Amino acid sequence: MPTKIEKDAVTGTPTTGHEWDGIKELDTPLPKWWVYLFYATILWSVVWWVLYPSWPTLRDHTRGILGHDQRSALEQQLAAARAAQARWLERIAAADTAAIEADPELLAYAVRGGEAAFKDNCAPCHGLGGAGQLSYPSLADDDWLWGGSLGDIETTIRHGIRYASDPETRESRMPAFGAEGLLEPAQIGDVVQYVLSLSGRASDAEAAGRGQTIFVEQCAACHGEDGRGMRETGAPNLTDAIWLYGGEPEQIRAQIERPRHGVMPAWSGRLKDEVIKMVTVYVHNLGGGE
Ligand code: HEC
Ligand code: HEC
Repeated sequence: MPTKIEKDAVTGTPTTGHEWDGIKELDTPLPKWWVYLFYATILWSVVWWVLYPSWPTLRDHTRGILGHDQRSALEQQLAAARAAQARWLERIAAADTAAIEADPELLAYAVRGGEAAFKDNCAPCHGLGGAGQLSYPSLADDDWLWGGSLGDIETTIRHGIRYASDPETRESRMPAFGAEGLLEPAQIGDVVQYVLSLSGRASDAEAAGRGQTIFVEQCAACHGEDGRGMRETGAPNLTDAIWLYGGEPEQIRAQIERPRHGVMPAWSGRLKDEVIKMVTVYVHNLGGGE
């Protein structure tokens, strides 16, 4: 170690005293701005440790005096969102479905809320957008089994259809004309021809004529004299091209011999009252609402 600090002749900067092959290492001090910035970051980190959660401990971590954590920040945001929603839900709760539809703002909110609830609860059976599928009616057309007014739709949703545990559920069952021997197989053949004739598709006019008599006696009470269906009994219109269980002769025959009966769950008590109203309004606005 040199005892006296040597200065570089050209720059005037002290040297470290190291020398290789005549080249000396200068001991240039760090720029002042850099040094102060460095101290400032150290100071900043200390302040941060005090204010915010930072150091791990054996089981936990230091909390910081501000009490900040991501979870409570998220909870605050959720609470704010819920509060904003609550204002709308209060208005929905206070209005009936007709009043909701009369208020454009409320209608827009209800349709969006109803759509979300429909996707979660109804689409598995009725399809996205209520498009329907075999055995599950379309809710987007104007062909209604039980009625397409706001009141009809709400009743259907609240109490379901043939849903045993709801005493106010919609109920009606077509007799098993074949399985219970109410009609002979030949008579069933005739009435199938008559049903086909209602949509202009009978292949045997004579049989259809015989079938008409049977229809008037056995079927008209529910499906109507003209076969256009009746909402009091949930009996479908047999004169159109829309079939719940299929419109082929074998499918019609199967329904007469051993009828299928669709079950729709009741949503009262399962969905919140506000949600039932919103989903009612949503279905009513799918296109077939009356
Ligand atoms: C488990 C299947 C299933 C689910 C889930 C379901 N439905 Fe249904 N829904 C049916 C069936 C089956 C029918 C037809 C019943 C019949 O044959 O009369 C029906 C009928 C209806 C009708 C009457 C249609 C008409 O033509 O009169 C409405 C309205 C309806 N559903 C709305 C809904 C809504 C809204 C939801 C969700 C909250 C829902 N459904 C969930 C099976 C379901
Ligand atoms: C007590 C009332 C009642 C009587 C009587 C009745 N039906 Fe029905 N029928 C219904 C109901 C209700 C349905 C719908 C079942 C469902 O929604 O699941 C239905 C469905 C049908 C269907 C299926 C329609 C489709 O869209 O797929 C056919 C076909 C039919 N009935 C024919 C007849 C014929 C023919 C007779 C007489 C021999 C008859 N029904 C007597 C109530 C009745």
